[in-house]
Amino acid sequence: METGQVDTSLEPMRGIRPGMSGRRVLPDVLSLVVREGVMERARALSVFGVDALCEDLHRELGYDFSRGNRRRMIRLLVDLLVECSWLEAVRSGDRWSCRRDGTPVPGDPPADAGEGDAQVGFIRRCLRAVPGFLRGEESPIAFDAENLRVWEEFLGCGEFQACRSVMLDRMASASGASASLLDLCHGPGWGIERAMARWPEARVIAIDFTDAFTEVAKRRAERAGDRNASRGLSTPPVEWFGPSDWKGFGHPLPFPDAAFGAILFSCGDPYIRPDARDSVYADLRRVLAPGGTLGILSRGYPDPEHRHVPAYWARVTTLIHDFAESVCAGWHGFTDVGENQRMFSRLGFRGAWNLGGAMSILDSALWILKKG
Ligand SMILES: C[S@@+](CC[C@H](N)C(=O)[O-])C[C@H]1O[C@@H](n2cnc3c(N)ncnc32)[C@H](O)[C@@H]1O
Repeated sequence: METGQVDTSLEPMRGIRPGMSGRRVLPDVLSLVVREGVMERARALSVFGVDALCEDLHRELGYDFSRGNRRRMIRLLVDLLVECSWLEAVRSGDRWSCRRDGTPVPGDPPADAGEGDAQVGFIRRCLRAVPGFLRGEESPIAFDAENLRVWEEFLGCGEFQACRSVMLDRMASASGASASLLDLCHGPGWGIERAMARWPEARVIAIDFTDAFTEVAKRRAERAGDRNASRGLSTPPVEWFGPSDWKGFGHPLPFPDAAFGAILFSCGDPYIRPDARDSVYADLRRVLAPGGTLGILSRGYPDPEHRHVPAYWARVTTLIHDFAESVCAGWHGFTDVGENQRMFSRLGFRGAWNLGGAMSILDSALWILKKG
């Protein structure tokens, strides 16, 4: 590209500011850790593993690790506190101690001008529920009508919207804008809206395991169709599949083999049970046509080697996001990037990101895969 020319293919990247939400909410999390007394317990134990810390937090703070993902939340906190230099690993990396020279303990989180970005607002909402949740309260946020607005706002945040646009553009440049696109776990319909704007002629099929979002997603799709019509483009009506067609991850999708040229899967991956990941992705490959593309928006769990997720704020944001969304019903968390690469290769996917067949970019948050 000549100097002075604007590369318009990178325009949506402007909306992606890696680590932005982590920057804003790190003081909230550190303050929570101090207020809850977790740092004090860590200091009292001197050197500890996650099991010993959980046992102590159960005894001293009343945390309930008998069910759900609460033990994993403590592991997330440990990884975050290592990242922030409050803890350091000792021995083989499965025991930790407090750093003497760690960053000074913060006071209350800064009085912020409002909640700011929708992602920050959602994370803060989740963090407020953490103390009760860790003491055994039920998940305060589920995929139901009561929380519709919460999900709608969070999922429509600038970063996710920009990522969806980049993903659809890259999927199109890998295989062409496909004639049929499945939006897996459509939620409030942000992905459908972007897909209809980016690929106006495609047949869009939308599925979710709950009908809590159907009405709002349908309205969003209608508006996207109207916008296309006003540009003189005729868009096929979206085809909807709901809980009577599909019971969710772990159940086969109600579609024949090779039914779709493309699948958009945004912000749903961490809700797959770890033991179901292989079968879910094998089923996605089944319903993809040969050469079809699968786009996944998630985050990669920060690796100890800093190879897949090298940027500090991306690592911190991922750990905070994972910790906070753990209070939502059904959350299993972000997964290891290397493990995902091996799983996708084993299942017959290959990287479709055009730089040497890479599978992911942006600190492993965006994946574009092709059915090999
Ligand atoms: C965080 S939302 C993302 C929604 C949408 N893809 C987006 O990007 O806005 C997660 C989606 O996964 C769906 N989901 C959650 N748990 C699920 C499960 N066990 N099986 C199938 N879908 C699930 C929810 O209904 C919801 O639509």
